[in-house]
Amino acid sequence: MRTTVPRSNIDVHLKETRLFKPDRAFSKATGLDLKTYKKWLRSGKATPEKYWEAAAQELTWHKKWKKTLKWTPPHAQWFVGGKLNGAENCLDRHLPLHGNKAALVWEGEPGEVFTWTYRQLHREVEKFTALLRNTGLKPGDRVAIYMPLVMESIVAMLACARGGFTHTVIFGGFGAEALKDRINDAAAKVVVTADYGWRKGLQVKLREQVDAALKNCPTVEHVVLLERAFSGRMTDGFSESLGRGTRVSQPKHLGRATVLLWHDALAAVSETQRKNFGGIESVDAEHPLFILYTSGTTGKPKGLVHSTGGYLAGALRTAKIVFDLKLTDVYWCTADIGWITGHSYVVYGPLAAAGTVFLYEGAPTHPTPDRFWNMIARHRVSIFYTAPTAIRSFMRLGNELPKKHDLSSLRVLGSVGEPINPEAWMWYHDIIGGGRCPIVDTYWQTETGAIVISPLPGFIATKPGSATRPLPGYDVDVVDKAGKSVKNGTGGYLVIRKPWPSMARTIHGDPERFKKQYFSEFKGGVYFTGDGARRDRDGYIWCLGRVDDVLNVSGHRLGTMEVESALVSHPAVAEAAVVGRPDELKGQGIVAFVTLKASHAAQLRGNLSEKAQFESLLKGHVVKQIGALARPDEIRFTKNLPKTRSGKIMRRLLRELATNGTVQGDTTTLEDLSVIAALQKDEE
Ligand code: WTA
Repeated sequence: MRTTVPRSNIDVHLKETRLFKPDRAFSKATGLDLKTYKKWLRSGKATPEKYWEAAAQELTWHKKWKKTLKWTPPHAQWFVGGKLNGAENCLDRHLPLHGNKAALVWEGEPGEVFTWTYRQLHREVEKFTALLRNTGLKPGDRVAIYMPLVMESIVAMLACARGGFTHTVIFGGFGAEALKDRINDAAAKVVVTADYGWRKGLQVKLREQVDAALKNCPTVEHVVLLERAFSGRMTDGFSESLGRGTRVSQPKHLGRATVLLWHDALAAVSETQRKNFGGIESVDAEHPLFILYTSGTTGKPKGLVHSTGGYLAGALRTAKIVFDLKLTDVYWCTADIGWITGHSYVVYGPLAAAGTVFLYEGAPTHPTPDRFWNMIARHRVSIFYTAPTAIRSFMRLGNELPKKHDLSSLRVLGSVGEPINPEAWMWYHDIIGGGRCPIVDTYWQTETGAIVISPLPGFIATKPGSATRPLPGYDVDVVDKAGKSVKNGTGGYLVIRKPWPSMARTIHGDPERFKKQYFSEFKGGVYFTGDGARRDRDGYIWCLGRVDDVLNVSGHRLGTMEVESALVSHPAVAEAAVVGRPDELKGQGIVAFVTLKASHAAQLRGNLSEKAQFESLLKGHVVKQIGALARPDEIRFTKNLPKTRSGKIMRRLLRELATNGTVQGDTTTLEDLSVIAALQKDEE
């Protein structure tokens, strides 16, 4: 276990003393009263199972569970024996009262807007379920979804849930290699994709990545391909300019897989088929709703498996109480569906609550830097949930841009993905929230499935930079190395002592790794988050970032080993060590120390322009292997990497070097001190 919380984070947080009292007028207007909240806190602490049972009762079940929790660490089962369906909970049950309410309001980057009511979305999902069943899929089979942020991507997710197929959404920014690895790990039978997505005025060609990936994906039998310009809902004049109806010919096969064109395949689903084959699969509470890949401390991404009943209970309850989500809200979470935030707080949580979800496909500053504020004003967004990196980059652009727009519809602001620095928090509060909107800084992880630490708006006083207190139902603690709770006013490791319903159940295909990763650091079934945290004198928690070899770049998790594997897959690279360094905008930036094979090193020696060229080539290589999010900020070539006598790379020293330019820490275990001296002098 490492203890490498960046000092700068701690310093900033220790100095923070501002306190924002909860707004009683706000809490009065929530669906929640203080008495219920206090009751929740009490029962969440004393009898968490009771608290979560009440949350699960807000879902629609076909069969009530027999046992609330079976816990044999690290294996949790919640609502054992219960049966339900994920899509029914997000769609069918809302139809009688909210069928004509907007479920999704989508805006494309070029500016087109489409709305689907719950009834319309339900119908599309039914048709797509029938289509998936027609491919021969059986409940439990995996479907990979590699899509831009369009309404169809949510149709695909919910259709999987409806048929009992387990989806694995792969972020559209990942490249072919990363895509292939995930498809193969999940052994997906179907891949759902699109010809392209829009980003900064350019088409991101997703299908081309699928073409490349599927050369080596033997399990895939069908690809469903959405043709953007022919998606069947482009009814305004604008779509004509995109070339509606002019179809380019698509391949009939990709790898071994047969290609089904979304539009044609759905049109071929008759009314009878929709009714007969678009129905609900009743699944066990523990049935895997989805697998989501995230980065860990090894090069291989982990496919975290989430349940149906427990996951939905957690996502629904937290979506409702953390955001005070009401039927009248227009709710916008800017996350992509490729991340857990997109799963829990774009799709499952808000839709299970019959919310109206706004979606935007495209870049935040395109075509003008005030695009976000412009959309909030036009769509009258009332709840806005985004990441500190985005907030910081908007802050840099100045106050004039948001001030140009009427942001008075906003009433709750959320932050997620990385620690938010107090300065950004204050800007968000004053400039975007006009000083009147509570901020919910929500701490959680892919593994937790739902928000764990967050203020409840109107109920908890907030401090800029702190996610405040654990939500009811979670037994969160900050502990020392021995697992002992630390005194208030000190720091340690962030853990969760008892199981909770939306926790990941295992790592797909690797239960041992699940145990080792999360439940071996501390005894007694205590879950280790991998984060360091400080608990202040009032018991408020300040998350300080990862203490393991996981980076957080712009709110995206990346394993140092993943980037290292990508680098060494280049034929010229002998060895690589990757570390993070604090970055004002992105939270962390990536610095790679690379040792080249002798012949290549000789070629580059002393030739600065070739070196620079090679550096950018290597960066491009990483982008190709993983995706743009993993592009190193800097590559430093070195003859040797600092290692211990047992041959372990001393990343701590490299981190210091990357951050401060020098190494002052303990180098006693270093095998060859001259390595550090050379690196400090920046010699090859
Ligand atoms: C970090 C994203 C501080 C943390 C939901 C965690 C945060 C990792 C916060 C999970 C926050 C997330 N304050 N740090 N509010 N939210 N983190 O799996 O290091 O993509 O372990 O889930 O992000 O990232 P993941």
